[in-house]
Amino acid sequence: MIFFLLACADKGTDSAAATATAPDWCADEAEITYENFGEGFLLTHCQGCHAADTPNRFGAPETVAFDTPADVELWREAIYRVVFSDLSMPPAGGITDDELFLADVWLQCDL
Ligand code: HEC
Repeated sequence: MIFFLLACADKGTDSAAATATAPDWCADEAEITYENFGEGFLLTHCQGCHAADTPNRFGAPETVAFDTPADVELWREAIYRVVFSDLSMPPAGGITDDELFLADVWLQCDL
């Protein structure tokens, strides 16, 4: 984890919203992918309510499901907004600073 924190220091203050084109600073980051990070992150923090087959969605809309990389691609901007701007998801919080940093790199660089 120390490695990632050091990488964070190199990132500067640029936290522009996700765009289709990866920002320049992505080149300096480790590769954070759906396979090595995103899938587990979603499982831990989102899929309780947002998996297509979850037994209880706790009110999460049927259409907002994150079961595949394609789903995440479809919802990327909304995911970015609720996690980083609105801070509204997950409703009870619980994402650590390390996870937030990795999610930022994942959603902006390697999705
Ligand atoms: C405890 C259940 C629960 C968990 C866990 C949860 N959500 Fe939600 N989510 C909801 C509910 C309920 C709504 C609909 C109400 C709302 O939008 O606030 C929603 C709506 C959303 C929406 C659509 C809202 C919009 O404004 O476009 C997105 C995107 C979303 N969640 C992303 C996430 C992400 C990403 C995570 C994990 C980091 C997550 N949610 C975790 C319950 C949950």
